[in-house]
Amino acid sequence: MNKTLRQAVIAGNWKMNNTRVETKALVEELIPLVKDADCGVVVCVPFTNLETAVALTKGTNIKVGAQNCHFEKSGAFTGEISAAMLVEMGVEYVVLGHSERRQYFGETDVTVNKRLLAALEAGLKPILCVGEMLEDRENGITEELVALQTKIALKGVSKEALKNVIIAYEPVWAIGTGKTATAEQANEVCAVIRGVIAKLYDSDAANAMTIQYGGSMNAKNAEELVAQPDVDGGLIGGASLKAPDFKAIIDAASK
Ligand code: 13P
Repeated sequence: MNKTLRQAVIAGNWKMNNTRVETKALVEELIPLVKDADCGVVVCVPFTNLETAVALTKGTNIKVGAQNCHFEKSGAFTGEISAAMLVEMGVEYVVLGHSERRQYFGETDVTVNKRLLAALEAGLKPILCVGEMLEDRENGITEELVALQTKIALKGVSKEALKNVIIAYEPVWAIGTGKTATAEQANEVCAVIRGVIAKLYDSDAANAMTIQYGGSMNAKNAEELVAQPDVDGGLIGGASLKAPDFKAIIDAASK
């Protein structure tokens, strides 16, 4: 982290976990635990829990995010949710391009770009996920692949709008596997992404960009990861479902 240049943000991606009752319990447990955080704190909850999370976190330092949004404003898109619908509910962030959406729901770099543009236009702050599969890493194409994902996702995004974007580097092989990228590996790819931003925009934009690491980040390894100069926090899956673990990660990013 380099807190003189940019904000560190710890975001929980709850994925398809927690009912409304469970959401209430977890958010209420979190509020006092993270109130003194010296980093951004976000919880990205299932659509059905957004209203509950927004109401409970009002007046606290916890921000609420969704885990996807559609690129069209309205229309015949059964099962989809628009960016404006999220904004109307008081949602501030949205995870876009998560590898689970790419793997299981046909998300492509092009649709991620469309969603990102729609989210920004509606006033949401996207958390854009990029990352390689194990096979890509073994084939030595991690840097090119992540650079390409980043470039396509940001097509048409102005320098001004970019200020509202967070990028999360999530190596797919590290998600939910207990296999974390080493701090050096995480830093290396986050630095590559920052280089892409510098080329696409300029060094000011690159320096100001919050770039998180995600993938089996937990209470134990968080400190080493966020100590890396180009790792500005984390996007946390499993460990964000347990308040003490999430707090420990936030404490690590608050140092
Ligand atoms: P885990 O922390 O469970 O590995 O998940 C990471 C992730 O996918 C966050 O978006």
